[in-house]
Amino acid sequence: MLITDINQMKQISKNLKKEGKTIGFVPTMGYLHKGHISLMECSKKDNDITIVSIFVNPTQFGPNEDLDKYPRDLERDLKICKEVAVDYVFHPKAEDMYPEGYSTYVVMETLTDKLCGKFRPGHFKGVLTVVNKLFNIVKPDKAYFGKKDYQQYIVIKKMVEDLNMDVDIIGCPLIREKDGLAMSSRNKYLSQEERERALSISKALFKAKDLFEKGETNPKNLIKEMKKIMENNVDEIQYIEIVNPKNLEPKEKVEKGDIILVAAFVGSTRLIDNIEL
Ligand code: PAJ
Repeated sequence: MLITDINQMKQISKNLKKEGKTIGFVPTMGYLHKGHISLMECSKKDNDITIVSIFVNPTQFGPNEDLDKYPRDLERDLKICKEVAVDYVFHPKAEDMYPEGYSTYVVMETLTDKLCGKFRPGHFKGVLTVVNKLFNIVKPDKAYFGKKDYQQYIVIKKMVEDLNMDVDIIGCPLIREKDGLAMSSRNKYLSQEERERALSISKALFKAKDLFEKGETNPKNLIKEMKKIMENNVDEIQYIEIVNPKNLEPKEKVEKGDIILVAAFVGSTRLIDNIEL
């Protein structure tokens, strides 16, 4: 069922809780793909009720980013949600989420200034604010986030810990296309030629994992090999970092469980990807 009114969503969640139902929540910005669907399936397995939100959150986009052209197709999304049999789709209006005079934000003092945060100032402030608001409206027991956006997942987990919020954050595996490209709503922006060049990102990650498994533990060497694969294909590498999966600090010597995080532009499309070692 589609809900667009904030108070109605709050009331529905309140009633569900009164009935003793557990609520699983999957926040999205829509233009749904198999990555999103995998989160919905996880939630359905764990909870009585699954609620998906579709909201292209203006506060997490920078002034020169793609808010206006971000792909939207509510009808298609609703069809997908129906097929997966989620219970409610929450699709609020931007002017209701951020009415005139809106002025309260969630700011994290660590973790958000590195990696994507360094290149997208204010991005995580917008993400944390909207996720906090959505949690207050939907009141989930568990909320599902993809490890595709690894930094986002870690930052949201920390917010919930720091603010003693009553929700379990569940991280779900990154879902790829058959050829390796990490699924993303933004892949729609890629031309055929760009899509082929974008494949160099996952190829580089697979290569690094392979080299690590063969004994290479120097992050500089692993990153150098990745650059070799990506340099002639992508248009700009924003970062390649090998970090501790908990605090996102760069590693001097790579160990099992560390994670390689990448952000790169192909044409004007910014893509992120990662792999766990
Ligand atoms: P969006 O990019 O739509 O992603 C919604 C959720 O789907 C996120 O948790 C994201 O990590 C997950 N996801 C996207 N692609 C995935 C993939 N290939 N494999 C697994 N999971 C994937 O992330 C956002 O929206 C927003 O920042 C949001 C959290 C909704 C706040 O506005």
